Parts: sequence; structure tokens; C-alpha cells
Amino acid sequence: MTATLHANALVKDYPTARGSLSVLRGASLTLNAGETAAIMGPSGCGKSTFLNILGTLENPTGGELTIDHCNPFTFLEPDLARFRNRRIGFIFQDHHLLPHCSVLENVLIPTLAEKQTGNGVARAQDLLDRVGLSDRLDHRPAELSGGERQRVAIARAMINGPAVVLADEPTGNLDRNTAESVTELLLDLHRSESTILVVVTHSTALASRFERQYELQDGTLCTR
Ligand SMILES: Nc1ncnc2c1ncn2[C@@H]1O[C@H](COP(=O)(O)OP(=O)(O)O)[C@@H](O)[C@H]1O
Ligand SMILES: [Mg+2]
Repeated sequence: MTATLHANALVKDYPTARGSLSVLRGASLTLNAGETAAIMGPSGCGKSTFLNILGTLENPTGGELTIDHCNPFTFLEPDLARFRNRRIGFIFQDHHLLPHCSVLENVLIPTLAEKQTGNGVARAQDLLDRVGLSDRLDHRPAELSGGERQRVAIARAMINGPAVVLADEPTGNLDRNTAESVTELLLDLHRSESTILVVVTHSTALASRFERQYELQDGTLCTR
């Protein structure tokens, strides 16, 4: 199946004690399999909110999201969770690895909810090899460098063969050289897996590595 992501005029208002906070005001984005986009914008402008809606972690107040031509927000919760686990890979600024699990176990976690087991370990080992960590399989996250942790998070995001990979400031905690090499690895893996890749970044140098660059401004996505 050729993956598609279509966000049409997404609106997000947060209710607050001082009334409604309008964060997204018609943000739209369409990407097909193999395409990449970087989203920039000042802190607090709604980048994470937008990415979380693309990842079905948050509901929009208005607008429409379709992934592979279906609207995941029409699913019941167990079906939505299964859809998210299979079709969407997440990479966060703070790696979100489980501290007591090994590198290999962390990468396997998204496979645990899936029925088909069997080649999960081989796939995890292959992904870890491709991110250069085949000699770190038994390490705990605390025994890794920041860049290595993010490489584990990349392998974990890819394990179920997602249609869409969403990365929220994945290199925000890394020094410049490490940030560059982690970004290159992410792009390499994205190319070989033909995912849709959306990355939030503050770095114009890193954003330039992605095919399309957008600025989130006044709640809408503008081409940079
Ligand atoms: N759950 C929430 N409830 C109320 N306001 C929120 C919530 N999540 C985020 N916000 C507000 O929405 C705005 C956008 O947040 P966010 O998407 O995290 O911005 P960014 O990722 O661009 O820094 C911020 O002003 C933030 O305070
Ligand atoms: Mg954010």
C-alpha cells in the first residue's frame, strides 16, 4: 500500500481557565510515501500539538486527518491504538526509552502488541545494525550516549514498518555534529523504508535536509 497523509485545515483549541486558547487555525499538510517535511517555528506556536494530531495522540477541534485514506479519529479506541502502533512511528526529543530494558528489548516493544511474532528479533537486530548499534544490543539506555539513545529511538520507531514517522525535535538535546549524524541516519532509514517523515526542528541547517520546509505561523503551515 502506498502511504498518504492528508491533514486538512486542522483546528485545535485548548480550553483554559481564561477561555479558549486557539493553537491551530487551519493547518494543512499533504505528504505521500517517501516524502519528507520539516516544521519550524518559535516555542509555543503549536508544533508538538500539530505533530501529536498527525500521530493521533490528540484529537483536533476541527478539520480532518486521513492516513492511508481513512480517518483514524472515527475508530474506536482499541482500533485506534492498533492503527497507531502499526502505522505510526514516534521519535521524541527525550528518547522515551524504558530504562530497565536493553537496547534490543526497547526496539521490540512496539512489536509486543502485534500478533505476528517470529522475525521481530531479526528485524530489530537488522535495524540496530543499520543505525550502527549492533555491538550495543544488551546495553541499558543509561549506558549509551545521547546520540546512541536517539538512534535506538529511530530503530524503535521503524520496527513495525510504519507509514508515517513523526519526530518532535529529535536532535534538540544533541550537539551539532551528533545532531547532523542522527539526522542523516534518520533520512537513510526513511529512504530505505519509504516512509512519510515529518520532523520538528529549530535548526535551519537540519531543516534544509528535508524536501519541504514549513513554518507554523498563527496556527497555519506556511512554506518557508
Ligand atoms: N494540554 C494543553 N492544554 C492547554 N494548553 C496547551 C496544552 N498543550 C499545549 N498547550 C499550549 O498550546 C501552545 C502550543 O504548544 P506546543 O504545541 O507544545 O508548542 P511547540 O511545540 O511549538 O513549542 C502553547 O501555548 C501551550 O502552552
Ligand atoms: Mg514542542
